[in-house]
Amino acid sequence: MPESKSAVITSALPYANGEIHLGHIASTYLPADIFTRFLKLNGIEAYHICATDDFGTPILIRAEKEKQSPEEYVARWNMRDREDFSSLGISFDFFYKTSSKENVEFVQYVFKKLREYGHIYDQNVIQFYCTFDDKFLPDRYVIGKCPNCGAENQYSDLCEKCGRVPDQILDPKCAICDRTPVKKESAHYFFRLSNFGDRLKEWLSTNPNLQPEVRNYVINWINEGLQDWDITRDLSWGVPIPLAEAEDKVFYGWFDNHLCYISSLVKFISDKGGDGKKFWNESQVYHFIGKDIVYHHYLFLPAMRLGIDSEYKLPDYMPTRGHLMLQNKKISKSRNWYIGLKDFTLAFNPDYLRFYIASVVTYSQDDLNFDFDAFYERINNELIANIGNFVNRALSFTQKSFGGRVPEPSSIDGSLEKELGATVDDVNKLLTGNEIDRALKRIMKYGSYMNQYFQANAPWANKDTAGTTLYVAVNAVRSLALLLEPFIPFSCEKIWRQLKLSGSVHQQTWESAKDINAIPTGHQLGRIEPIFRKIEAKEIEQWKGKLGKP
Ligand code: MF3
Ligand code: ZN
Repeated sequence: MPESKSAVITSALPYANGEIHLGHIASTYLPADIFTRFLKLNGIEAYHICATDDFGTPILIRAEKEKQSPEEYVARWNMRDREDFSSLGISFDFFYKTSSKENVEFVQYVFKKLREYGHIYDQNVIQFYCTFDDKFLPDRYVIGKCPNCGAENQYSDLCEKCGRVPDQILDPKCAICDRTPVKKESAHYFFRLSNFGDRLKEWLSTNPNLQPEVRNYVINWINEGLQDWDITRDLSWGVPIPLAEAEDKVFYGWFDNHLCYISSLVKFISDKGGDGKKFWNESQVYHFIGKDIVYHHYLFLPAMRLGIDSEYKLPDYMPTRGHLMLQNKKISKSRNWYIGLKDFTLAFNPDYLRFYIASVVTYSQDDLNFDFDAFYERINNELIANIGNFVNRALSFTQKSFGGRVPEPSSIDGSLEKELGATVDDVNKLLTGNEIDRALKRIMKYGSYMNQYFQANAPWANKDTAGTTLYVAVNAVRSLALLLEPFIPFSCEKIWRQLKLSGSVHQQTWESAKDINAIPTGHQLGRIEPIFRKIEAKEIEQWKGKLGKP
């Protein structure tokens, strides 16, 4: 268990620009949710914080296309994201937005401080400008031919073909009116990232909690030399730059978005009457991210915090994971090689997705794969055949033979308690180290052990030991509900109700999972019914058939 009594967990902020899909879930939100639930069960005051990332040119362009104000447009996605996340049981203690008043003020405060300390300078840069639309054209507002690979129709800030940032896009066109823009000078502000190479290296190499592979390649980037960041955009949608001479200019989205981790936590804590800054600084801080945003989180984010004298501490952990592939192919919305979270949770028990992803999500930058056949097998042959089977047999047999009253045991074999204790300790260690897939495997091993115990003792045939077998089994069901709560919370709550225990499974203590006598003799169970429904092969075929079709 982490040393600290409190923790702040953040998940990368989704752009308010499209629905949450399986890829987001696997790399970031589910691991963060499982981890937070685990900390909470351990009595840690842990808060999972997130928000929509509201600024940036892609959002502005989409809003314009849909004839909505950017405010309306992002508010719509903020609502939708909340629904999507809760459909999968991703539970945030606070879900806010980068365009909040609190974030805007905080970003401006940080900028002023950085400037005061000499980490900001201004310089004129040449920008594309559309004389027809009367606008500067940053990033996505210019489309052209990539000078690196020759691909047509690429944005000036990212070529989706070769993945590089084109330095000088060829044959530029305005994304709004398709006319050729001119070049015009504009004053921009730069953040001196180059000031921070040594301190970043020091921080990266002395923080034992960062994943070594990521740390090593980030240090390589530093050795290659850091470029200062242009943090200005000539737009109206963004956090205004708080200087009289910079009217009509806003900050680049990556200047303001990660500050929203802090401003949201601070608001959340002060709304509860606490001191947000103190809470941040006294907690273990975890930023969960996908590997595509390593650069921003391992360099830009810590440099900005160092730049204001670590007034808000740097993260202790940045669990970084790979991308999700779908049937071994890259997820792509335009090719419809893609599954939206909402569609999926409407079709299947949300715990099935949680279980499957948790069982494949390694603590590394390796890409994962969502495979429909593997999903079918994992759910039917592991979750249902192991856990579902044991829970249902233990409870329904008690129902049938003892009227749902927990029978009296005679002597309980010591190895049962030992195996349970070892399971809880192992899972504890694995989850503390963010080894979600391995922790789940360890729980499944305990499930198999209990299935074997039940089968070997055959309470239907052995009248004299049936009381002990069922007493142990019902208590093991309770322990499993606790151990599995971070992974499959909806099902564990169902189990809790069938056990007819008080409160909710989400409010229990993890340590009490070790208690093999928690449910006493004579306790009356609730109504017993199967927790899970098997997936049918034809459902899987239907889903496979939809992929890649327009
Ligand atoms: N919206 C960004 C993305 O999807 C992530 C922002 S995370 C933050 O890539 F920390 F910077 F906010
Ligand atoms: Zn134009």
